[in-house]
Amino acid sequence: MGPATLAQVLRQLPLSQDPALLVGLHTADDAAVYKITEDLALIHTADFFTPVVDDPYVFGQIAAANALSDVYAMGGRPLLALNIACFPSCLPVEVLGEILRGGAEKVREAGAIIAGGHTVQDDEPKYGLSVAGLAHPREIITNAGARPGDLLILTKPLGTGIICTAIKAEMAPPEASRAAIEQMTALNAKASFVMKEAGAHACTDITGFGLLGHAAEMASAGGVSLVFHLHTIPLLPGVMELAAMGLIPAGTYHNRDFLNEQVSFDPAIPPERRAILFDPQTSGGLLIAVAGEKADFLLKRLAEEGLGEARVIGRVAEKGESLLRVET
Ligand code: CO
Ligand code: CO
Ligand code: CO
Repeated sequence: MGPATLAQVLRQLPLSQDPALLVGLHTADDAAVYKITEDLALIHTADFFTPVVDDPYVFGQIAAANALSDVYAMGGRPLLALNIACFPSCLPVEVLGEILRGGAEKVREAGAIIAGGHTVQDDEPKYGLSVAGLAHPREIITNAGARPGDLLILTKPLGTGIICTAIKAEMAPPEASRAAIEQMTALNAKASFVMKEAGAHACTDITGFGLLGHAAEMASAGGVSLVFHLHTIPLLPGVMELAAMGLIPAGTYHNRDFLNEQVSFDPAIPPERRAILFDPQTSGGLLIAVAGEKADFLLKRLAEEGLGEARVIGRVAEKGESLLRVET
């Protein structure tokens, strides 16, 4: 036997049987949900990571938007946030100040409050938040509710992993970096609000496991298969060209190897186009499953809220041989 995988170790943790825990460790959902009263549930999540951009203020904004997103993906409203930071003693402390300022700015934009936090000394800076939010227990949207016939809507274009790799290699065209940073700092607040208006059945945000990794969680939680139409999937500017040049982050290959058996691709789709669908996203958009007849309404509302890049990218099907299918 080889060394244990992280998934195996996590499976050995004791599971709570407390009926107030509506969403917990036994599903791969975005946040934990705890029912406080019949009409009030607490949503709780934590997320932090190493810098994806050089500017500490922008990094703080991105990390906070990313952490807040797990509350939005569940249909909740962020209430309180705590800073989680790691910082080396060799860097000027003003840099940490800029990271925290960026994070605070996003928390304020979300209408929530930074109520404290914790910093430890570490060789590499890391930053993120633990966020508590609220929702009505019956209005919680998990990744498990997708039904055959639903359409799948993605609210932000893909490609932040590829563009961040290109930024580090100093090969990113300026319009690509600008678009990626603008998107990574954008909250999923409005997308979350309008998906509730449309009565969305299921939702998850697209982050480190890439579009297909998070889609696989949605498919297996819902007992369905998801079908994607490649040409309808929105991409950030320059992504196709950068991927063709091989500017693909290592996480893409981990995601692909992990999922390979569960995805069936149309054989006409070339490897670099497949790679984009496994690209780890930072602070990515929401993937929403909504009844077919509500999809136009949801797209219209998203556009009215400034999310005109949202697209229908596929549909939910009865559970088939593969969890995910990608057509041309
Ligand atoms: Co998430
Ligand atoms: Co997360
Ligand atoms: Co969720």
